Amino acid sequence: MRQPWTTGRELRELDDLDDQALARVYAYPQDLTRPYVRVNFVSSLDGSVSVDGRSGGLGSAADKRVFGLLRRLAEVVLVGAGTVRTEDYRGARRATIGRDTPPPIAVVTGSADLDPHSRLLTDTSVPPIVLTTTAAPAQRRRRLRAAGADVVELPTLAPHAVLGELDRRELRRVLCEGGPRLHGDLVNADAVDELCLTLSPLLVAGHAGRIATGPAGPDPRPMTLVGALHADDVLLLRYARPRGDRSLPQPGDNP
Ligand SMILES: NC(=O)c1ccc[n+]([C@@H]2O[C@H](COP(=O)([O-])OP(=O)(O)OC[C@H]3O[C@@H](n4cnc5c(N)ncnc54)[C@H](OP(=O)(O)O)[C@@H]3O)[C@@H](O)[C@H]2O)c1
Repeated sequence: MRQPWTTGRELRELDDLDDQALARVYAYPQDLTRPYVRVNFVSSLDGSVSVDGRSGGLGSAADKRVFGLLRRLAEVVLVGAGTVRTEDYRGARRATIGRDTPPPIAVVTGSADLDPHSRLLTDTSVPPIVLTTTAAPAQRRRRLRAAGADVVELPTLAPHAVLGELDRRELRRVLCEGGPRLHGDLVNADAVDELCLTLSPLLVAGHAGRIATGPAGPDPRPMTLVGALHADDVLLLRYARPRGDRSLPQPGDNP
């Protein structure tokens, strides 16, 4: 059942959309000339980003469906090393829509402290991209290369350098899956174009962090609601830069 929500917007039921319709809803802007950064998080109602240290306790079938679709629309999955280690990341399974291969996982790590025997390297059909610097121990970088990672030493891991490297590779449909430290950096660099936020209908309290951490930026940045879906009590929200900001096409501009 559809319910009117706010003028010109509707809260739609996820189950009303088949996979093709859902892909249209979440389509990236076309003809990107620079990386478009979509960030995806799930949070409890009281702002917790994890339960017992992992995000799995916040998950739902609805969230998993959208998570999977977002990966299929992306050209690269960008993620911080803390999330890779905590969540025991492996490669994306399904090919990007319109391509033969899944999006590579691009990991930001200052330390290059990633296990060469972890699923990131052993359970993937495309090599992960490890974005680090020469300040990371050379032996770790060597081991990751030997294990099949595409290790890139950047001058800095600031968002402009990370996104510049993805741009150079023409990986412009970026899906950032967190975590909070990497997201905080992106927010401060004004590099977040879109936030997909799933609100899980749970109150968890505790000391878990929020979806963006680190030093506060100069000013809070306004975002515009561009979509809202629900599945039972789960709310799947999508916010983007206000129209006209940085003269980017907006997600809803796609035919
Ligand atoms: N609810 C959700 O949707 C969701 C999503 C993602 C993660 N999480 C949760 O978030 C927690 C992890 O949080 P986190 O903040 O540690 O995650 P994170 O942002 O994934 O990882 C932080 C690590 O990434 C590297 N990093 C990121 N930006 C960097 C930069 N600019 N320069 C150098 N290194 C950089 C560093 O790795 P090195 O230490 O290797 O240098 C840093 O320690 C876990 O509990 C996870 O379950 C939840």
